Amino acid sequence: MPGIVIVGAQWGDEGKGKVTDLLAEPADLVIRFQGGNNAGHTIVREGVTWKFHLIPSGILHTDTLCAIGNGVVIDPKVLTDEIDGLRAAGIDLSNLRVSANAHLIMPYHLMLDHAGEARLGKLEIGTTRRGIGPAYEDKAARLGIRVQDLLDEKILKKKIIAAMAPKELALRPFAKSPDLDLRAMTEAYLTYGHRLEQYIADTSRLTWETLDSGGYVLFEGAQGTLLDIDHGTYPFVTSSNPVASAACTGTGAGPKDIDEIWGITKAYATRVGAGPFPTEIHDEFADRLREAGGEYGTTTGRPRRVGWIDLVALRYAARINTLTALCVTKLDVLTGLDRIKVCVGYRGAEEARFDEYPYHQTVLHQVTGIYEELPGWSEDLGECRSEEDLPQAARDYLAYISDFVNVPVTLLGVGPGREQVIWTQAGRQTAPAQRAAV
Ligand code: IMP
Repeated sequence: MPGIVIVGAQWGDEGKGKVTDLLAEPADLVIRFQGGNNAGHTIVREGVTWKFHLIPSGILHTDTLCAIGNGVVIDPKVLTDEIDGLRAAGIDLSNLRVSANAHLIMPYHLMLDHAGEARLGKLEIGTTRRGIGPAYEDKAARLGIRVQDLLDEKILKKKIIAAMAPKELALRPFAKSPDLDLRAMTEAYLTYGHRLEQYIADTSRLTWETLDSGGYVLFEGAQGTLLDIDHGTYPFVTSSNPVASAACTGTGAGPKDIDEIWGITKAYATRVGAGPFPTEIHDEFADRLREAGGEYGTTTGRPRRVGWIDLVALRYAARINTLTALCVTKLDVLTGLDRIKVCVGYRGAEEARFDEYPYHQTVLHQVTGIYEELPGWSEDLGECRSEEDLPQAARDYLAYISDFVNVPVTLLGVGPGREQVIWTQAGRQTAPAQRAAV
């Protein structure tokens, strides 16, 4: 013990990578539990920017085991490229483990993702087009191909044939693509298998053994609560469960193995892709915020939609995940505003007021935010290292958020650098902080 889960409390891109990187330092194992290379984590260390899509960001710590759990969908091309890139940069990968039960993204999944979005036209979800949805579809349809299948040519070929048969019609426009040739595909995937073999492991056993021997396991989520396929803004969601409970199914840990659940939120809000976003800003201030926060997708480079922090949605995320801690990132981006808006309710059709996150999707599409305005600050926060260094208005802003969602703020981000964080008083009392002796 302990087992600590990190989840996004908004629509993804909250800065989970940076928090994971910090919390991973004293961890024995970091394991990802869902999503795939639709995620992108950026970490800045000693002036060097690292971007991860599949490998847990803990890989930069020499003593931490890093695993890709069974709940993740893996594009083996992306994984092997990421391995090559890290190797070339001199990073030791002997601590990497890949679940034998994780499902693979196949070339036809990428094609189907593209085709699905094109078919939806104006109603598109705005997926990352990385084949995530179709790979999870095959998993549920029991037509998925797993990492372990890469080690057996006969089984691999049989499974590819079985998986492609029902897709014949949908794949007809791609029939001439060399990527769909059965022999070439099998060979390419067997080669990935040879390359990945040394990392393939029983990661659920590894997780259990680490916890059983008193170790510290960090469960790393991708995307965010509002992109969850069950609890998010369906159908404008991803095809997995980014919520905390998926840390169990996605790794093989049991619910009793989880001790703390850390939700990560930006000091404002962003969203990539389509779907409701009640606090979205459209005027020129949106451009200013986007530029100040560098709000462009790590994976796709798409400009992110931006808005004020939505405390109704954040309180919902706190409930769905049973958050025990809140990390607020990018507080520095709000510097220079006279007033900062926080959304404390929604206004719907016919002036209806909602104080709680509405369960009906139509309502969510119609609402706009009801705001409180809090005083802003003008000081640069980049050098602040303790709560006392922060201007009073910034401290009041954080206190307002924490009171509203009823979760203590443990960690703050005040710049992109690894050292640009503040552990709050509440944060110093948590298990990861005690382990790291901050
Ligand atoms: P998919 O996960 O590629 O199927 O995309 C489904 C939705 O989730 C789209 O709106 C994407 O923009 C969004 N999404 C997927 N991954 C991320 C992420 O890591 N950050 C933010 N949004 C994401």
